[in-house]
Amino acid sequence: MNNQITFYTIALTLVGCCYGNVVLPRDNELLPGCGGYMFVDDEVVIDGPFNENCIMQFETQEDRVLAFSVVDGNIKDALQLLNIHDGFGVDSPMLKVENQIGHEVSRKNKPRVLYTKSSEAIVQFTKTSHSNMKLKIQKAVDCPLGIGDNTQCGRVVDDVSCYCATFTGRTFTDQTMFCLDKKMKLAIFENRTEEENVQATWPGTAGAYYTSMTDARREGTWVWESSMTVLKAGDYTNWFPGRPSYVANNVEDCMLYGGSYLQFWGDINCATLARAICEAQP
Ligand SMILES: *[C@@H]1O[C@H](CO)[C@@H](O)[C@H](O)[C@H]1NC(C)=O
Repeated sequence: MNNQITFYTIALTLVGCCYGNVVLPRDNELLPGCGGYMFVDDEVVIDGPFNENCIMQFETQEDRVLAFSVVDGNIKDALQLLNIHDGFGVDSPMLKVENQIGHEVSRKNKPRVLYTKSSEAIVQFTKTSHSNMKLKIQKAVDCPLGIGDNTQCGRVVDDVSCYCATFTGRTFTDQTMFCLDKKMKLAIFENRTEEENVQATWPGTAGAYYTSMTDARREGTWVWESSMTVLKAGDYTNWFPGRPSYVANNVEDCMLYGGSYLQFWGDINCATLARAICEAQP
């Protein structure tokens, strides 16, 4: 009796897993090689081989999207073996490399990652994959081409975050609200690489860009307001020589890069109209 139940369970699982217009139970773990459901908190890497007709469901946080790539491989080649549908349903639109090019300002010609528009996706294998194929699925923020007039966005730092430049001059406060209205934040530069990637895309030669750093709350204490992190000794900085101003009660309380400060950081009156960089992290 027990054996029979086990047999039917396996048979049902296989049928459920691999054929037809399937909706898998939500609590199903991924089965080796074939099928199942997984919630993507941050990122997962799934090792092949994957079997023909196998279907996997992935879901992430409601206001985020899924990013599919292949470890040490090319997602375009992988599409010979699998289809990725944007949503839980084999009739949901299929992701295609050609349709994704615009999402990657910094890598226009080489999309390595396929992004969904929704927080759910189905991967359906059309052929059996090589055993060494590793499928990587990450939680990402959506990254539109722009967030309004006179803006431009791109995945300029990594595959999961999004940065947008607004070329309209506004005060620091207005730029802070501009980013927040778009569900983003004024940028934080945690390290040189991050800043170099942003400046390579939006150099300060044509105008200066606000970030979220200011010492308006207490003179001399610089804070990344987007994370309310105080700048400590040893943290990454990129000040122009002689900046910031140490004159008592000076009114140059907001940081920006570019303009007369070239590729460095300068401090300026927060009421000055300048461009800005917004960012969103997964
Ligand atoms: C630099 O900052 C970026 C963005 O926050 C982060 O993804 C990256 O891991 C950091 N790199 C180093 C070397 O800390």
